[in-house]
Amino acid sequence: MNPLPFNVPGDPDTPLLLAPQAGVSESPFRRLCRSFGADVVLTEFVSAEGIVRGSERTASYLRFDEEERPIGVQIFGADPATMGDAAALVTETYGPDFVDINFGCPVKKVVKRNGGSGCLRDLKLVGRIIRAVDRATPLPVTAKIRSGFDEATRDPVAIGRVCQDAGARMVTLHPRTRADMYSGKARWEEIAAVVEALEIPVVGNGDVRCGEDARAMRERTGCRGIMIARGSHGAPWLFGQSRAALDGEPVPGEPDLHTRFEICIRHAANAVAFEPDPEKAIREFRKHLGWYTKGIPEGRRLRQRLFQVCDLREVRVVLDGYLAGHRGREGGEPRPGNTRPGEGVAGEVAGEGVLRKRRSSYRYDGAGEPTAAAPGR
Ligand SMILES: Cc1cc2nc3c(=O)[nH]c(=O)nc-3n(C[C@H](O)[C@H](O)[C@H](O)COP(=O)(O)O)c2cc1C
Repeated sequence: MNPLPFNVPGDPDTPLLLAPQAGVSESPFRRLCRSFGADVVLTEFVSAEGIVRGSERTASYLRFDEEERPIGVQIFGADPATMGDAAALVTETYGPDFVDINFGCPVKKVVKRNGGSGCLRDLKLVGRIIRAVDRATPLPVTAKIRSGFDEATRDPVAIGRVCQDAGARMVTLHPRTRADMYSGKARWEEIAAVVEALEIPVVGNGDVRCGEDARAMRERTGCRGIMIARGSHGAPWLFGQSRAALDGEPVPGEPDLHTRFEICIRHAANAVAFEPDPEKAIREFRKHLGWYTKGIPEGRRLRQRLFQVCDLREVRVVLDGYLAGHRGREGGEPRPGNTRPGEGVAGEVAGEGVLRKRRSSYRYDGAGEPTAAAPGR
């Protein structure tokens, strides 16, 4: 039976959640992932201050389709009153299924103002924020946390308890500290410790890259739900693979390249339909083009071409040309060399300068200081 504090169609024992991801978990990708088996989706993090100010740009991050439900809107900020006001506005205007609070964002500009993982330096503030949000909305309030701000403050169980005591109805743990950024391995044993300590459902997050990882995470941690971010990049079918693995069924293989490109085009078409400016939509879609073409023969050359396209028709022409060229030269369907979804792509795509230009700059190649979120968020 679904353990989460909101309805999940199909009542899965271990729901699969698409992680909040700035610049990635937008409505078209959320819908795609839902169609591949994500049970729950979240918006990217949205600034409480932006919501209260009525910023048009902020409002665009809050739009969702009914078919995306159940959906959580994730908000961030360090001022409890503003966070409460934002939660009330979101509830009234958009009516998501739950409100999630971001206590994990490592971006310098957010942290400097005590937002995101910055809050983890002051657990009293974490409690005050959750209580303020909980008072302001009748919806379930949930929290997404890291294991601490740094090694000295690393204590995921204490953070989880503060969230629970303040009224959070579900906690998602990404078991790295802010100082860890994305380096090393997510410490799944910390998820197990928080599961053990809390009464509310704990969702595990971090380093799920294939169906088997999802099964292993549940087995090793006892988590009640599994949240996936990077593994789904260019591979929304990871949700179906994870579901099969969790249900003890044969895990479907990776789609062949033709199917992969069809999914990519479907995703791109939705992105263009969603964004008022089609050229901007394609520009912003480049990172996905990078992810869908990862690990394939002569992928770098293909990406160089894809990163210059200006509209959907051109994307189709370039992808079709690639398939035809390879069939002609090699007499068969080219196959992705990399069978583990997500592997190796972050560095490669970021290296090609795509991700670093993103407004969100939730950098995740593990190197250096995260760049700042764009103004106005
Ligand atoms: C591009 C990108 C954007 C992200 N944006 C957010 C965000 O808006 N809110 C949030 O709580 N976490 C954000 N994250 C963190 C992810 O939700 C997740 O916790 C992290 O990537 C670990 O999960 P994974 O190993 O499945 O990628 C982001 C991660 C990435 C890669």
